[in-house]
Amino acid sequence: MTEELKKGIKVLDVGCGTGVWCVEMATEFQESSFIGTDITEVFAATPLVPSNCSFIQADTQKGLPFEENTFDFVFMRAQTLCYPEKIWPDVIKELARVAKVNGMVEIFDTTVTVRDGGPSFTTLINEWLATALRMRDIDTTVIARLEPMFVSAGIGPVTHLSTQWPLGWDPTNTQYTKMSKENVLSLLQGIKPQILAALGIADKEYTKHFDNVELEFGEYKPHFDLEFYYGRKNGASKSS
Ligand SMILES: C[S@@+](CC[C@H](N)C(=O)[O-])C[C@H]1O[C@@H](n2cnc3c(N)ncnc32)[C@H](O)[C@@H]1O
Repeated sequence: MTEELKKGIKVLDVGCGTGVWCVEMATEFQESSFIGTDITEVFAATPLVPSNCSFIQADTQKGLPFEENTFDFVFMRAQTLCYPEKIWPDVIKELARVAKVNGMVEIFDTTVTVRDGGPSFTTLINEWLATALRMRDIDTTVIARLEPMFVSAGIGPVTHLSTQWPLGWDPTNTQYTKMSKENVLSLLQGIKPQILAALGIADKEYTKHFDNVELEFGEYKPHFDLEFYYGRKNGASKSS
């Protein structure tokens, strides 16, 4: 998208959170205009928002507050935990609806499944978090199966790329390793109340695994899978 972004296009960042993606992109591509949407208003606390970037509060599940064929580039990242599995086809159709014909739609997300992790990290995420999420009809593995939903939404041909997101380690960059360890530990702290409440697990039991995770960092090289999907709207959507 670099050449189009340099010339000047309309870009939407769905579920933008703090706006870290759209603010950085707007700073780099000053000829383009960016809108972030999110169900919360955390964007409001973001400093240094350039004038070509703005925010609208919106719940994607209720429909995006834009006309059809509005954006040249619709981007959505890190929404795995937000939607029940059966909602995903509708979410992708909504992204396609607001994209212009020949506009680009991109989703970049993770299945939130620990690969090559130690026993405690694997238990906390792959067993406890996954079970608590399934109780809300959320199956994070849906992120590996989005391609047919793009096609049904009239986006394609679709490119699907996968890569690995190292968690708590990176031999090439010690600054990243430190930040990544902090991120993993703060994720595990953040999900704790929901897991204890949903599964009835004792605080002591959770803390035992949590404390082990830091020790496991030196021994294991865990990662999440990252999935990237992108394609241009071709207008050939199928009704569900
Ligand atoms: C993990 S954050 C990702 C934020 C951002 N996309 C990023 O990559 O930094 C998930 C975001 O999705 C938002 N979200 C959850 N459900 C949503 C919904 N139904 N509609 C819009 N945003 C939603 C949350 O408020 C949160 O800001």
